[in-house]
Amino acid sequence: MDTQIADPTLTTYDVERVRADFPVLSRTVHDRKGKPGKPLVYLDSAASAQKPRQVIDAMTRFLEEDYSNIHRGVHFLSQTATDQFEAVRGKVARFLNAPSERNIVFTRSATEAVNLVAHSYGRAFLSEGDEIILSVMEHHANIVPWQLLQADKGVRIKVVPVDDRGVLDLDAYADLLSDRTKLVAITHCSNVLGTVTPAKEIARLAHERGVPVLFDGSQAAVHGVVDVQDIDADFYIMTGHKLYGPTGTGVLYGKYDLLKKMPPYQGGGDMIESVSFEGTTFKLPPARFEAGTPAITEVIGLGAALDYIESLGREAIAAHEHDLLRYATEKLSQVEGVRIIGTAPGKGPILSFTVEGVHPHDVGTIVDQYGVAVRVGRHCAEPLSERFGVGPTARASFALYNTRAEADALVSSVIAVKEFFGA
Ligand code: ALA
Repeated sequence: MDTQIADPTLTTYDVERVRADFPVLSRTVHDRKGKPGKPLVYLDSAASAQKPRQVIDAMTRFLEEDYSNIHRGVHFLSQTATDQFEAVRGKVARFLNAPSERNIVFTRSATEAVNLVAHSYGRAFLSEGDEIILSVMEHHANIVPWQLLQADKGVRIKVVPVDDRGVLDLDAYADLLSDRTKLVAITHCSNVLGTVTPAKEIARLAHERGVPVLFDGSQAAVHGVVDVQDIDADFYIMTGHKLYGPTGTGVLYGKYDLLKKMPPYQGGGDMIESVSFEGTTFKLPPARFEAGTPAITEVIGLGAALDYIESLGREAIAAHEHDLLRYATEKLSQVEGVRIIGTAPGKGPILSFTVEGVHPHDVGTIVDQYGVAVRVGRHCAEPLSERFGVGPTARASFALYNTRAEADALVSSVIAVKEFFGA
């Protein structure tokens, strides 16, 4: 297993202290005149995580004291802003155990990072008839960019199935790999099922045929320790806003020999060596892929978020979330008519479910009246909802600040939904 989970009994994780770092968690929702609202129970962190004071403060401090454009100025502020921005690249490299910060490209989102690989690597090195292997549990962000490439270049997409628990079918994957396979792009943790995929084995099998592998780590990087060198990932993607950092920050890790041979994806300032109307030359990666002014303040915020996560300890966080998942799964399973979608062993803290006889949007709307925020819908993974034949589902996702009491609140609000509908 690539995601390491520590024994929860060995940790001294103080969730109340952690919660105190997140200003929004002390608010109530649905307050009405003369009537106090309900305490917020935020179980939608897989969509976007809340931000600790440390992140908010780091961004405010940077804006108040050090803000300037980067890589462009000889003046003091530009130099200090550049140093702080580039220091975050180093933090991201350490977070993923990348060999160097030159393996780290900043993007505006995980989606943009997948598009970067599809447009740059895909257009340069894939041609008609070449095959890309995805899995049925991919987020649309790891499907649609490849479909655009399919329309453009005539590549073919092959899809690895999952079993009824949501476990990736490794034998089917091995069978799909062939001389025609030119890229594998698979999630490291499903945003719907929580399934953690065997990344190391996926990479090993692909590499036997010389095929590079991209992992979408948007969820996995939040819930475990990711080591891109141990996995032997060729590309690894994560997103800042799910990591308790701001929106507008994504990361593409790439092996340097791959990045180096990839052409630019967007053109503009900061990615060139020299420009003339006769011809333009480009910087080496990662600068080559960072055209234009980046999300400077937000990257500073991402650095603070990674520091925050490290200060709590990723193994301790994973153990805490794993305990919550186990507890909530056990309680929710006892509610008659509830079906949990995604029961893979070792899954991440994501709990998708349906309630017999009640539309998931009604589930989401009613639990919200009790202060419980869950996501409802197909979670940007329509092929997966077809695979399970369930249509939309409700999804509770657990983060480093959630508690067992919040899992109880989820369960009692679902019971209230059933009572409301007489289901
Ligand atoms: N990808 C995000 C989710 O799963 C938005 O909710």
